[in-house]
Amino acid sequence: MSKLIEIRNLSVDYVTFDGRVRAVNDVSFHINKGEIVGLAGESGCGKSTIAYSLMRLHRPPALISEGKILFEGRDVLAMNEEQLRNFRWKETSMVFQSAMNCLNPVKTIEYQFWDIFEAHGMVKDRKESIEKAKELLRIVDIPTERLFDYPHQFSGGMRQRVVIAMALALKPKLLIMDEPTTALDVVVQREILQKVYQLKEQFGFSILFITHDLSLMVELCDRIGIMYSGQLVELAPSKEILSMPLHPYAHGLGDSFPTLHGELQEMKGIPGTPLDLKNVPEGCRFAPRCFKATESCKIVDPKLISVSENRWVACHTPLEIQINN
Ligand SMILES: Nc1ncnc2c1ncn2[C@@H]1O[C@H](COP(=O)(O)OP(=O)(O)O)[C@@H](O)[C@H]1O
Ligand SMILES: [Mg+2]
Repeated sequence: MSKLIEIRNLSVDYVTFDGRVRAVNDVSFHINKGEIVGLAGESGCGKSTIAYSLMRLHRPPALISEGKILFEGRDVLAMNEEQLRNFRWKETSMVFQSAMNCLNPVKTIEYQFWDIFEAHGMVKDRKESIEKAKELLRIVDIPTERLFDYPHQFSGGMRQRVVIAMALALKPKLLIMDEPTTALDVVVQREILQKVYQLKEQFGFSILFITHDLSLMVELCDRIGIMYSGQLVELAPSKEILSMPLHPYAHGLGDSFPTLHGELQEMKGIPGTPLDLKNVPEGCRFAPRCFKATESCKIVDPKLISVSENRWVACHTPLEIQINN
């Protein structure tokens, strides 16, 4: 399988008057063509910062301090303005957290599609724009006559479908979805994600899917990265991350959510609170909350290492790995 995007040793800082906070610390992973990779972790662990950095949409005080982002081998961090304009939305597009509220309330949906097509020189006239927009509404199951409606005339779920259709307007190779359905009820969330999966199968793009909800993620993703306090602590095929997590934090996170199909279990959660990034301990950042932490965990920060094909973990005392062969 070939790599679409590769993130190497990415570090992102927020530089404020209070000092410098490293929100993303030495994160590396890649997404293959046609693959869905998820990033999970508690609020504030750096997921959105990674998403914005990948498209270079991060804004001050965020600063990419280290690392490389390669898209089909091209260095995203070295792109000039014109290369970036082509890269954004045509090659990579993003559905933001609460994106459905970002539609312009005083413009029809039709106008907003026109705006995108025109800005990228994708259509010769308004008529062609309308045809293309209708086709996009069709693929997200919205009746085409709704094209001339205003955002407030749609339900939350439909607005989010419109935003997804817009993100796919220029046929990107990578779709980044940052908590795309968090504001919606569970049934609508699942319908939308099923639709996204279908579209992915149809068009073959890759997805970076970000959420704090591991149960939704497991259903959609091929592989999942678990983040804690700005670092990637585990990366594994999604089935394995729930059934046999290696990192004690991944284990705790898996226990924190009821599965959608399974019986309702008691949600154990993880004791303690996420780390204050202004006050990072020397050793493993999770050690203060970890039931397996030893003295050495408090001294040496574990690196993300490969423990078997396709499985990576950053932990001195990982849970047992069961190899069935
Ligand atoms: N505008 C900002 N100014 C300063 N620090 C920020 C800003 N935005 C985010 N951060 C820091 O970056 C960390 C990660 O934020 P974010 O990427 O939004 O996390 P997530 O998406 O996982 O909830 C936060 O915990 C916070 O410390
Ligand atoms: Mg976020």
